[in-house]
Amino acid sequence: VLDQTLLPRRIKRVRLRTTADIAEAIASLRVRGAPQLGIVGAMGVAQAALRSASRGSAGLLRDAERAGRGLARTRPTAVNLGWGIERVLARGRAAAASLGPGEVAALMVEEALRIQREDAEACRAMARNASGFLARGATVLTHCNTGSLVTGGWGTALGAIRLAHEEGKGVRVIATETRPLLQGSRLTVWELRRLGIPHALVADGAAAGLIARGEISAVLVGADRIAANGDVANKVGTYPLALAARASRIPFVVVAPVSTFDLSVRDGAAIPVEERSPGEVTGVFGIPVAPRGTAARNPAFDVTPARFVTAIVTERGVARSPYRGALARLVARGASHRAPEAPFGARTPPRRARRAGA
Ligand code: MRU
Repeated sequence: VLDQTLLPRRIKRVRLRTTADIAEAIASLRVRGAPQLGIVGAMGVAQAALRSASRGSAGLLRDAERAGRGLARTRPTAVNLGWGIERVLARGRAAAASLGPGEVAALMVEEALRIQREDAEACRAMARNASGFLARGATVLTHCNTGSLVTGGWGTALGAIRLAHEEGKGVRVIATETRPLLQGSRLTVWELRRLGIPHALVADGAAAGLIARGEISAVLVGADRIAANGDVANKVGTYPLALAARASRIPFVVVAPVSTFDLSVRDGAAIPVEERSPGEVTGVFGIPVAPRGTAARNPAFDVTPARFVTAIVTERGVARSPYRGALARLVARGASHRAPEAPFGARTPPRRARRAGA
């Protein structure tokens, strides 16, 4: 994986050879973002199956399950992590009764790679489905990092922006820096520069003022977990953007794959919010920015109530309020769903996004 803690200063790939390596990389945010956590979690249990010294399929599965339990504990908010782990384990369980350990491990690896491929396809479909929210000449505000670094493809919110740029819509991006770990300034700006998408970086606290002054056309963000009622957990600082967007009557749009839905969670109050080390707030990459001994809180995510969400754009279509039924219908579309036929980059009329609405 590309070590995201070193960007933008260094581009360095690191090899994650063991479950412990993977757990460390997730906890320290070398790898991060909901879809990538799903892919890495899936590959983590597949790797544990491959590395298992067990002579039988049952023992191999036990080793993979142990690895899965350890990896799932590393970050609690992004539901994709547990989803990816469980999908690969389920493939192993289904095969274990009739196949030997080598074949079971191979099938689990295949499933993990399929998750990565499907995520890339989902990015394309999400970008097409979001196109109705990105008007020609739009200035889009985005938060955290939702691009190719954290998905199998182009990204969620950033993938939609990239497609609009490639279609020649002349979009411009305002990226929030995203304290405390600066995923916006370090990672989103890095991606935007490489893509040649016009952009400007702002301090998190500047965003609401720019929205109020009419400088922003829409807010596009990703998600870490979406509850059954449409409440959205995403990087801390997302909720204030939704409030500001509502106050100025501009769209607040969440772009996320269906794997980020958690319909077992009734509403946002039940979503576990990761609380990280206070040191990430009292310091910036090891440099103190508060007096020694300052007490600090560091919730890594916040929850935006569904009533402030204009739409949730997925690979299977666009959900609008009331979300409870809309999200369940998108999930049910599941296996029968085929991705739209149009090649990535083909212009998609806004009408299509509306028609796709659940
Ligand atoms: O703490 P992080 O950097 O893993 O948080 C990531 C986010 O909040 C992203 O916005 C979210 O996972 C969507 S990524 C496509």
